[in-house]
Amino acid sequence: MTLDITFSKTTKKKAEALVLGVYEKRALAFPQGALEENLHSLAARMMEKSRNFKGKPGQSLVSLMPEGEAYDYLVLIGLGDGAKLDALEAEKAGGRLSALLTDKSIKSAEFIVDDALENKARVAASFGVGARLRSYSFEIYKSEKKDDEKVQKPEKLNICVSADKEAGKLFKREADVMKGVFLARDFVNEPPNVLYPYAYANRILEALKPLGVEIEILDDKKLLKHGFGALMAVGQGSAHPPCLVVMRWNGLERESMDAPLALVGKGVTFDTGGVSLKPGLGMDEMKMDMGGSAAVVGTMMALAQRKAQVDVVGVVGLVENMLSDRAYRPADILKSYSGKTIEVLNTDAEGRLVLADALSYVQKLYKPKAIIDLATLTGAMIVALGHELCGTFANNDDLWAELQEASKITGEKLWRMPLEEEFKKEMESETADLQNIAKSGRNAGACTAAGFLWHFIEGDTPWAHLDIAGTAWIKKDRETTPKFGTGFGVRLLDRWIADHYE
Ligand code: BES
Ligand code: MN
Ligand code: ZN
Repeated sequence: MTLDITFSKTTKKKAEALVLGVYEKRALAFPQGALEENLHSLAARMMEKSRNFKGKPGQSLVSLMPEGEAYDYLVLIGLGDGAKLDALEAEKAGGRLSALLTDKSIKSAEFIVDDALENKARVAASFGVGARLRSYSFEIYKSEKKDDEKVQKPEKLNICVSADKEAGKLFKREADVMKGVFLARDFVNEPPNVLYPYAYANRILEALKPLGVEIEILDDKKLLKHGFGALMAVGQGSAHPPCLVVMRWNGLERESMDAPLALVGKGVTFDTGGVSLKPGLGMDEMKMDMGGSAAVVGTMMALAQRKAQVDVVGVVGLVENMLSDRAYRPADILKSYSGKTIEVLNTDAEGRLVLADALSYVQKLYKPKAIIDLATLTGAMIVALGHELCGTFANNDDLWAELQEASKITGEKLWRMPLEEEFKKEMESETADLQNIAKSGRNAGACTAAGFLWHFIEGDTPWAHLDIAGTAWIKKDRETTPKFGTGFGVRLLDRWIADHYE
């Protein structure tokens, strides 16, 4: 259950807590007179009595109100510099309030937006978006607790703003997109014994078909028959056969798709490394190795939910990288869907093999006008940029500019990485056309992986590769993102499509 968000012009006085914003220098974030005198003076006293509370972002005060008042609690939250309160800051503030309410086991709250703000509708909507994004939890595998041991999660947040209708409209759009974000988080958080390739394909079908997304599942027999030699090799060691899921959102409602946008995702439901086995410590985290595919599925859901006027095809390669007597091995030479042969030198560099076939397939069948792939592709990406920024490789400056613009709006940070001929060369083999790890070893690992993928992009089709190894999964809560699966990429791609292709 996520937080229910409503908007109203005036306070409803039905919540447990009244929440007031405070700007830096302890100024209440609305004019005197907007509130009953007793509440106003209580808020003023709370600030006066607290030595530390300055109204900085992240600061808060909670006080129990006297009996007989409309609310049980009065909550003050820091909003920082009022002049800098934009959509992203408002999202963060909303997210922090969501966490605070959980912490104090307050079940319902009412927040008053500063009516003097020029962008008040936007701030109100974004505050709600942040609160809901943070309220996500994944608890389906926890046994039911006794009532008094349960964490009481907030259920309702009413946001008071004079522009309530406009705020509600802005929020509604984002609520549709958040459904996609939560779907992506759910998939990343599911354990690999539950979310193996076919089970995952069925979950995609269940989630998207009712929304009008056309789903085609290519099973392992079809994949073998049609020459998906690279993807199939990765999956051949697992008892769970691979599959490829194609999702078509035909928002323009034409007979057939004409040069749609293509989204491609790496869906390795578990990555043991295969015969080139990974070390045991932390291997459990490799259940997130399908994060790229989850972002693609989540985006398709967002587009369908808000009935986007655009044609988009999503392709995800679902496969488990296991080791067994049937597993592929270093020295194997594979024939990819494109026809190019690939020498396997490390079975842990499997994501690029899955993507290679998925990329070739989507180009051959759909002739897309632009392609974006997302993948938890390399540990080297985390070494380079950590968990805040997503390394982005693009063969086209306009496409990069569009993505960067979307990123500034949604707060999913991107950093442009180099695509160079030298990295392409690094991936050429002496015995086959390509090899799956670089000749010179670990240096520039994220870049050489991108260089490998580039071999599978035909002509100069605009293409961007997002290595989300660091951003798909976090181990500490953030303002609007609780720990573990983040859903990174869904809002970004949705924004990119809305602003440039609708
Ligand atoms: N799935 C991993 C990359 C990864 C590592 C994602 C950590 C998220 C967190 C990928 O399949 C992999 O194993 N890459 C290898 C490539 C190497 C063998 C060239 C890596 O990064 O070590
Ligand atoms: Mn791997
Ligand atoms: Zn992997």
